Amino acid sequence: MLTLRNVNAGYGDFQALFDVSLDVNAGEAVAVIGPNGAGKSTLMRVISGMIPATAGHIEMEGRSVLDAPAHDIVGMGIAHVPENRRLFPRMTVEDNLRMGCFMPQFRARYEERKDFVYELFPRMLERRNQMAGTLSGGEQQMCAIGRALMSDPKILLMDEPSAGLAPVIVQQVFDLIERIRAEGLTVLIVEQNVKQVLRIVDRAYVLESGTLRLEGTADELLQSAEIQKAFMGM
Ligand SMILES: Nc1ncnc2c1ncn2[C@@H]1O[C@H](COP(=O)(O)OP(=O)(O)OP(=O)(O)O)[C@@H](O)[C@H]1O
Ligand SMILES: [Mg+2]
Repeated sequence: MLTLRNVNAGYGDFQALFDVSLDVNAGEAVAVIGPNGAGKSTLMRVISGMIPATAGHIEMEGRSVLDAPAHDIVGMGIAHVPENRRLFPRMTVEDNLRMGCFMPQFRARYEERKDFVYELFPRMLERRNQMAGTLSGGEQQMCAIGRALMSDPKILLMDEPSAGLAPVIVQQVFDLIERIRAEGLTVLIVEQNVKQVLRIVDRAYVLESGTLRLEGTADELLQSAEIQKAFMGM
């Protein structure tokens, strides 16, 4: 579904990604793990068109994503839940959801998509008139995921959805992700909670200093002594 081949990207003179190639198949959940500063968020940003690639190819269902403006990329079925959620804190939950489908091609389906999100996350229906900035951390994550789902994506890019949340809430966020998968969505997720994320994905890639070092099935990586030592404190 999503293919990256030899992608480079960075910020000005600084190169953050080197020759990154990866695949996500339809229906799969794939994780990207790696230390702070490895380039994980940069990888998500280059896929969703927030920053350009300086080399390589990115294709979504056979169509080139590079050179397409970010809103066309959303139209191709790619939705990004950015690091730190980036909600509009002084807007209500419902207005935040509305921002997820402000483009003309999505606007006609606003009611239908909103119903879908409220059905998936009844808590958001309950809180629909509350300012997003006053939601709890877990609720904010729900709202951010809900907003991304408004454009009816095929693949959801999630950047550290559990960051900054208490352990019990982290588990709730992972439960949300499982529910999203059950809806048939394809997921590419960045996570620091390596052990937990490897329990809900099919495969994972390890990114270090902008380079993919390792890939494998979730089970292989869970068993790997190297991964246990580097990311699970074992
Ligand atoms: N807007 C920016 N301008 C310049 N450099 C940046 C920018 N954003 C990120 N970088 C640099 O690019 C590198 C990769 O950053 P990135 O945010 O992708 O890492 P990450 O793997 O997501 O880290 P973390 O786990 O801390 O979120 C880092 O060295 C970072 O300082
Ligand atoms: Mg990051």
